[in-house]
Amino acid sequence: MNLYPADMNSIQKAADIIRAGGIVSFPTETVYGLGADARSPEAVARIFEAKNRPFFDPLIVHIAEQDQLFTLTRDLPHQALKLTGRFWPGPLTIVVPRSSAVPDIVTAGLDTVGVRMPDHTVALELIRVAGLPIAAPSANPFGYISPTRASHVQRQLGSRVDMILDGGPCTVGVESTIIGIRSDGSIALLRAGGIPVEEIEESAGMRVALPDEVSGPEAPGQLKVHYSPSTPVKIIDSSREIDIDDSSAGFIFFTRPLQDIPGDRYEVLSEEGNLREAASRFFSAMHRLDSLGLRVIYAERVPEHGLGRAIMDRMRKAAARYDREANDEDR
Ligand code: TXA
Ligand code: MG
Repeated sequence: MNLYPADMNSIQKAADIIRAGGIVSFPTETVYGLGADARSPEAVARIFEAKNRPFFDPLIVHIAEQDQLFTLTRDLPHQALKLTGRFWPGPLTIVVPRSSAVPDIVTAGLDTVGVRMPDHTVALELIRVAGLPIAAPSANPFGYISPTRASHVQRQLGSRVDMILDGGPCTVGVESTIIGIRSDGSIALLRAGGIPVEEIEESAGMRVALPDEVSGPEAPGQLKVHYSPSTPVKIIDSSREIDIDDSSAGFIFFTRPLQDIPGDRYEVLSEEGNLREAASRFFSAMHRLDSLGLRVIYAERVPEHGLGRAIMDRMRKAAARYDREANDEDR
């Protein structure tokens, strides 16, 4: 058993493991991460191995002090300081030109690096006590949904990590928003996440280019199929699309069940229709329904503004696998 409540003793132990080149899962405000010494290619390679993650998918480097940002990057656009000043610590990752302190394996050979300062005392303490920046993807097997509780990590990767720090459920519940900031100060959204793009636009005083407007290799990890539970997911707009007598179907509803569903095969994301609350519950709803061994999970569409954009992005990626498999059967 390598799961420990995240008290000061365990944080010290986790920091020692990371300093020695090991890998530790730790809580952040978004999802649980799987961290290693960002300066050590060998340590970082263990993360890819544990997750079965392809090496072309770069990692985010987590820091606890603003000074660490300057060590990891070069030619920081002014806009980067403005936005990190406003949103750090918090669920914003900036992708900016990297310095030579960042090994290739972290950035998948790209000339840029993703950096974020998480808003979670355990994550910040761990980085401080270890005294180094921590490279960390979400602590799930590649392509699977992200963990928002220590038990999710334990179930999916328990035997593959040196230690899991249990800091309770993640409050934000979806991954950070990732933006690329170019040298001319323009901003591109690379992944919708915990900070609504509207808030970034307001703070930056300019429009943010959305993913369908961005082309090229800027976001190599932004695969269409991702965040999938093992159970196929199908997005629905209305109750006409579901058969409530089908006891092998599970449901994720936004504010209330579209029909009376017997048993506990459904989840409601936010009775008040609050998108922040809905985002914080989305992955754990998926995890629970996925553990029931159902044939299909029907997920109701949510409004696509604020954090709804991040929810719909995850929902579409989960459903893309189902669509692909359905198409394969047609052939
Ligand atoms: O909230 C989060 O961001 C969580 C917690 C643990 O911090 N981390 C996370 O990491 O979601 P991960 O590895 O699951 O997703 C990071 C994404 C990947 O899709 C990757 O392609 C993208 O960030 N990324 C990282 N560095 C990049 C870069 N230099 N250029 C473009 N995309 C980058
Ligand atoms: Mg991930």
